Amino acid sequence: MSESIYPPSPEFSSQANVPSMEAYEALYEKAREHPEAFWGELAEKELHWFEKWNHVFEWNPPFVKWFAGGKFNVSYNCLDRHLATPRKNKIAILWEGEPGDQRMISYQELHRLVSRFANVLKGLGYKAGDRSIIYMPMVPELPIAMLACARLGIIHSVVFGGFSAEALKARILDLEAQLVITADGGFRRGKEVRLKDAVDQALNDCPNVKDCIVLKRTNSQIHMQEGRDQWWHEIDKDASEDCPAVPLDAEHPLYVLYTSGTTGKPKGILHTSAGYLLQTTMTMKWVFDLKEEDTYWCTADIGWVTGHSYTVYGPLAAGATSVMYEGAPDYPAVDRFWRIVEKYRISILYTSPTAIRALLRQGDSWPNSHDLSSLRLLGSVGEPINPAAWEWYHRVIGKGRCPIVDTWWQTETGSIMIAPMPGAVPAKPGSGTLPMPGIIPEVVDFNGNPMGDGKEGFLIIRRPWPGMLRTIWGDPDRFKEQYWSRIPGIYFTGDAARRDSDGYFWILGRVDDVMNVSGHRLSTMEVESALVHHPAVAEAAVVGKPHEITGQAVCCFVTLKKGDWDHDQLGKDLRQWVAHEIGAFARPEEIRFAESLPKTRSGKIMRRLLREIVTTHTVTGDVTTLEDINVLSRLATQHDED
Ligand code: WTA
Repeated sequence: MSESIYPPSPEFSSQANVPSMEAYEALYEKAREHPEAFWGELAEKELHWFEKWNHVFEWNPPFVKWFAGGKFNVSYNCLDRHLATPRKNKIAILWEGEPGDQRMISYQELHRLVSRFANVLKGLGYKAGDRSIIYMPMVPELPIAMLACARLGIIHSVVFGGFSAEALKARILDLEAQLVITADGGFRRGKEVRLKDAVDQALNDCPNVKDCIVLKRTNSQIHMQEGRDQWWHEIDKDASEDCPAVPLDAEHPLYVLYTSGTTGKPKGILHTSAGYLLQTTMTMKWVFDLKEEDTYWCTADIGWVTGHSYTVYGPLAAGATSVMYEGAPDYPAVDRFWRIVEKYRISILYTSPTAIRALLRQGDSWPNSHDLSSLRLLGSVGEPINPAAWEWYHRVIGKGRCPIVDTWWQTETGSIMIAPMPGAVPAKPGSGTLPMPGIIPEVVDFNGNPMGDGKEGFLIIRRPWPGMLRTIWGDPDRFKEQYWSRIPGIYFTGDAARRDSDGYFWILGRVDDVMNVSGHRLSTMEVESALVHHPAVAEAAVVGKPHEITGQAVCCFVTLKKGDWDHDQLGKDLRQWVAHEIGAFARPEEIRFAESLPKTRSGKIMRRLLREIVTTHTVTGDVTTLEDINVLSRLATQHDED
């Protein structure tokens, strides 16, 4: 198969932060040969330290410390240090609400707002090591709350506003949070998403939560519980604007972000301070080729890791103007993204293949009716991008001028791991291309032996990196077991990949029971445990099914308890049930009722076969371990009968 190659244009390379393949290779080699010197020099040059560290890193597999002994503050690095530079009046956050309202907040102003809110938290008695849950719409107060927590060392966990009360409750309890920061609601597709109602429901079962701070966004009627709930604008009103950032250990926990694993229980991925911020800052410069004058927009919701690293922490640490948009890409019409690009003269756009495919389907006239000439670089994240979507993004959005950076990384990795440096590395549509400096990925077999070029295998990472997760909150055993035991002492990504003869990485998707729906991670087990909570359901098996727009869609095989069920109605009820238990984004596309599910003799559901059924409608794999072979043919033919 011939593959297209898109080298950077001489115009792009000549202005790029990393302008040639030689420059990329020099960085990569230095990081590989002398990691201590490489990261140590960058940490000194790129970040502000209250006190210098003793060691660049200490590696006791699988636990690592970066810059141990150093005193550091993430909020200081994102705000205060810019105030002594001409950046102080630069726009830090350029925000547009879904109804069209706007705010432009300079670094100086953001510093003021964060300091005030940090004083509010301090006044309520919160201090370093305490935990907060942030459940908010995409409004500037969301990053303000995050940065205020970081300023004092309060560990935050942002819960995506699309998660249900049940999912929120599980996260509050797992984190043992005492504080919840939320809003009455947010706007999405012209409707209100009622966040405070979900918080009220969750807090019925969370006795540890002492305080709930509520931002007024939608102005709707909500319940305020005496003694627990307070309006943001009321307690913030008289707060002092002087709140020095607390010097914290370089390894002080910054946040916990819950992500789906291979069981029903989400994993609290723990990220710490200095190493995380260094790597997010560097990738802003290396991958997004960030310049002082850029207007940079990452479209991800801050509830996911992409929003943490590339809407908030990376861009602000690097002194960028970071654009935030509250609502849906297709509201009031499908050109909302292009309107925003045109209006604010966005130069760097970072979005997901799902969004690209959905917008592509609407036709070229929508983007063509806007002036997109301000764009100079495009990015993609969250799932493999198919070459057709890549080509459209390149041709119709980038007008053939803008390099595309396809960035592979994970909640666990904290920052971008494999991506082209756009002035240096020629792109191949569908490949994340080459690793970042300091990252040593490899494609291996079950025993950890390298696969030859062109062969599929498991993607692993050989050395610790600064932005790496440190553990799973409250569960170091699960951390060891999930990431470091498949191939002992080596980080296992859960992805399959191959490397081609140019050393380019091609990610093939997950090898575990994790689905990727619209770039959002969702575990099959999470959906299964939601389903079996329903009174009608006896057993459930869930698999990801290929989907043209969302990459994968949730497909559920369900057996029912005895009873007289109306399958049509029950199918609808179960889809709604899952949305209620987890969140609307997890709503199954398909519920298939079965008499029984294919199992091994030891009783394990054979999801691999179900995946094959939904992908190809036939089964070719090894079925000798099946308990009841007839089950399979019934499941496979059911689809055609529907
Ligand atoms: C997938 C999102 C191919 C992958 C930052 C990974 C990708 C999972 C890409 C992590 C990409 C992410 N190409 N696959 N550019 N980016 N993935 O934790 O399967 O939400 O393991 O982090 O998404 O998803 P997560």
